[in-house]
Amino acid sequence: MRRAVISGTGSALPMRRVSNAELAETVDTSDEWIVERTGIRFRYIAGPDETTGTLAADAARAALTAAGKAADDVDLIVLATATPDQTFPATATKVQAMLGIDDCVAFDVGAVCSGFLYAIQVADSLIKTGAANCALVIGAETFSRILDWEDRTTCVLFGDGAGAVVLEARDVAEDGPGILASRLHADGRHNELLYVDGGPSTTGTVGKVRMKGREVFRHAVTNLASVMDESLVAAGLVPGDVDWVVPHQANARILDATARKLGLAAEKVVVTVDQHANTSAASVPLALDTAMRDGRIKPGQIVVLEAMGGGFTWGAAVVRI
Ligand code: UT7
Repeated sequence: MRRAVISGTGSALPMRRVSNAELAETVDTSDEWIVERTGIRFRYIAGPDETTGTLAADAARAALTAAGKAADDVDLIVLATATPDQTFPATATKVQAMLGIDDCVAFDVGAVCSGFLYAIQVADSLIKTGAANCALVIGAETFSRILDWEDRTTCVLFGDGAGAVVLEARDVAEDGPGILASRLHADGRHNELLYVDGGPSTTGTVGKVRMKGREVFRHAVTNLASVMDESLVAAGLVPGDVDWVVPHQANARILDATARKLGLAAEKVVVTVDQHANTSAASVPLALDTAMRDGRIKPGQIVVLEAMGGGFTWGAAVVRI
């Protein structure tokens, strides 16, 4: 059967790493509060020459190398971001140009923190129909540019970065590798719980992130446990079959609570929120690349990717590596 197989991963982080203590010099917060409430210790902040596009291109190059593919092999780029370099054109086309690809399909997907899950399902679908054979699926963000650095309830939570995977069409056996199932959801009634207070068509400005964290937390645990369960059922698997969960890295307490709800051991959850903070659409592919490169995730293993974010939007994908 024709499946979309993850044949390589890559990631990229800005040069500058910022600790909680460094933030506490300019914001009314403390290392103790941030670690206890979120698990975050560090985040990376993009410098003036680092953009969503440059980070995405670096992550994409690393993923192509890992997959043993040349840029010319790519016929599709789907880039998930809420912080594009420009309102238009799509940052995916900037990445295409930076990689030196003359012609391919390239567009952005906007689903904030769930963007990578949305992008994976879009690319998987295009591969299954035969419209694409080799896709770069990227999550990349520079959330530092849309943070209100005077709002301690949000600015300590986010960071910048990018992650990418190469998704390749392959004919595989039933028990072979590839994306086995994915499920997506959105509920637009919750706009006011997590949003940016600006945009091209409303204020004509970029705006800043606003969040009612406690309420988002509550929805996140319920929705994530439910969509993970739904995708496992779609893949014909049960929680006991899962080797690794690679979750959206918003808060260590959300990761714990979600794993507990599904009866999954905490040791099966890949955690990078301590090092990267919440990088929105970049967080799942960044965490995936981390666990692929350090050898935790091995060929043949079952991995569940999941995320929830502004909209609300949420989703999960079950993959055999
Ligand atoms: O990526 C998209 C999805 N996003 C999420 O999943 C985020 C979900 N939400 C969360 O992760 C958590 O709700 C937060 C980390 C945002 C907040 O943690 P919390 O335990 O829900 O704290 P809280 O909002 O209830 O605030 C508790 C207290 C408040 O003080 P009072 O009102 O009790 O006096 C806040 O003002 O902590 C205070 N506070 C801070 N104190 C020090 C809020 N931010 C800070 C801060 N430093 N940075």
